[in-house]
Amino acid sequence: MMMNALISPYHDSVLSLIGNTPLVRLSRVCSDSIDVYAKIEAANPGGSIKDRPALRIVKDAIKDERIRKDTVVIESSSGNMAIGLAQACLYYGLRFICVTDSRTSTANIQILRTYGAEVDIITQPEPVTGDFLTARLNRVQELIRQHPNSYWPNQYANLGNACAHYETMAEISETLNGKVDYLFCTTGTCGTLRGCADYIRTRRMSTFVYAVDAKGSAIFGDKKAPRLIPGHGSAIRPELFHPDLADQCIHVSDVDCIVGCRRLLKQEAIFAGGSSGGAISALERVSGLIEPGSTCVVILPDRGERYMDTIYSDEWVNQQFGDISHMWARNTRNE
Ligand SMILES: Cc1ncc(COP(=O)(O)O)c(C=O)c1O
Repeated sequence: MMMNALISPYHDSVLSLIGNTPLVRLSRVCSDSIDVYAKIEAANPGGSIKDRPALRIVKDAIKDERIRKDTVVIESSSGNMAIGLAQACLYYGLRFICVTDSRTSTANIQILRTYGAEVDIITQPEPVTGDFLTARLNRVQELIRQHPNSYWPNQYANLGNACAHYETMAEISETLNGKVDYLFCTTGTCGTLRGCADYIRTRRMSTFVYAVDAKGSAIFGDKKAPRLIPGHGSAIRPELFHPDLADQCIHVSDVDCIVGCRRLLKQEAIFAGGSSGGAISALERVSGLIEPGSTCVVILPDRGERYMDTIYSDEWVNQQFGDISHMWARNTRNE
């Protein structure tokens, strides 16, 4: 058999596995009057959607020489962006200092150190605002002053973050031949939302965009409130945010995330992270408003292993919210 000379049978490096994630039909978790597809970002080698912006930002900065051999990359992140950056920095032989805080899971800190990152842990929130994010960003500025040869990706403002997700939406649209009636997209830095929305508007697609934000998050102006599940939501409104990015915002609670995750697992055998559960619950909340025959895409940002001590721990869920197991026992089409 002749091998197509244009398609390489192997990847040049682990980084070239980033992107081109699978789109999986969800046939059980939602009403059968609509077609639902999940974009499985857990398939990226670092385990999340944030591999895309991490690689894009590092590559761009190497290209225009903002990053050189001896540059120290410094960023604030408690999870997936940090892991994506640690992976890219390790590959390119760069020193990476990750500023995180005491709420970051032990598993994430272990993963970061395994990828060779130096982890700087903030133990107190910023006294005036009372949030950890501001304290972490202040610490980043302090480290930048201490390391004159440093580079700060600034994921909350870096357009490379959004550009990486222009590709995410291009993949979705190409796979579905442009028929995407509804998109459910979680928001943190707004990189995914901004990149997908830019693609949709540039291509004049008629896709209705639902932003899925956390209850208590500042992004879409919800009243500040404590949040236990990391990933989506933010204590500050990111510079990448713009009010026109989404047609509508749906706020999801920690319980919505847990219920969505447990239902995804039970009904579709998909073991996903907290914001994925939030996106599934958001879809369920509005599914009655969606015209039959519509095509909906839900972006699932990461995998479930990093939430074993929380979302997938019955003990933790019981402690925080009481017995809510009846909430994911219902609506199972395959039972
Ligand atoms: C699990 C998870 N979900 C959602 C998001 C939000 O994505 P974005 O930063 O592109 O808005 C993040 C960002 O870190 C994340 O880690």
